[in-house]
Amino acid sequence: MTNRYAVIGNPISHSKSPQIHMAFARQTDQDMQYEALLAPLDGFQSAVNAFRLQGGSGMNVTVPFKQEAYQLATDLTERARIAGAVNTFKFENDRILGDNTDGAGLVKDITVNLKTPITNKSILLMGAGGAARGVILPLLEQQPAGLVIANRTPHKAQILQQQFAAFGRITAREYLALSGESFDIIINATSASLNDALPELPPGIFTHDTLAYDMMYSIEPTRFLNYAAQQGAQQLADGIGMLVEQAAESFYLWRGIRPETQNIIANLKKSDA
Ligand code: ATR
Repeated sequence: MTNRYAVIGNPISHSKSPQIHMAFARQTDQDMQYEALLAPLDGFQSAVNAFRLQGGSGMNVTVPFKQEAYQLATDLTERARIAGAVNTFKFENDRILGDNTDGAGLVKDITVNLKTPITNKSILLMGAGGAARGVILPLLEQQPAGLVIANRTPHKAQILQQQFAAFGRITAREYLALSGESFDIIINATSASLNDALPELPPGIFTHDTLAYDMMYSIEPTRFLNYAAQQGAQQLADGIGMLVEQAAESFYLWRGIRPETQNIIANLKKSDA
């Protein structure tokens, strides 16, 4: 029987997830379908339930529904519970398992694809919204020398710092208070790139060796990546590798098989070029 999966979000038409999962399915010989579903902003729960009742086996959840997905899950993996957000559902009878594969996808992209160890490195995470929250625990599990969270609204970074303090060395700072420091890895988890904006960063935080990573992807380099390059950073990455790796982690949860990802990342980069 063909198993059905979908990504649900709003907007959804530009999602690359169907393309990625169908490539995984061909590669691993899985009998499955994967579609994109647009849910009304006030209709997430009923769209998920309709898909389940039609025989759906699992879903990916994207902006802006990850927190609502967390509420809807009947069971949570530990990483989803701690993140407070869900990007993957697995449907089992009347249960809905909620997982969060975003952080694992980011860590795999940085450490394996970009060959940049996180252990003992200094990390700056920009942003304190849902995207940032989802990746903090997996980053801390790599035991960086320190993880600094900076956010335009400082108290949100402080709340995350308090919440994750038990899991590793984490501090909260305002952007301009970063003056005089530099970092091995700087990750943009703000939604500023969506509006072609950039948080107010002091000069000097990037070095030649800094990896600048924008969790967003777009055809043109984001303002963050352009700024990092101007500041001398030579290693620049957008979120396409993370997108494929989080998808691979969801696919593993559903199908029990880990697909190969490098060729798919390379093909997606080529088709955007
Ligand atoms: P997401 O789920 O994408 O994380 P979110 O929860 O709305 O979305 O969070 C957006 C993040 O981007 C926040 O950290 C926000 O900063 P504030 O908490 O101060 O609002 C950050 N952000 C968005 N636009 C920004 C901008 N122009 N400059 C700096 N930070 C910005």
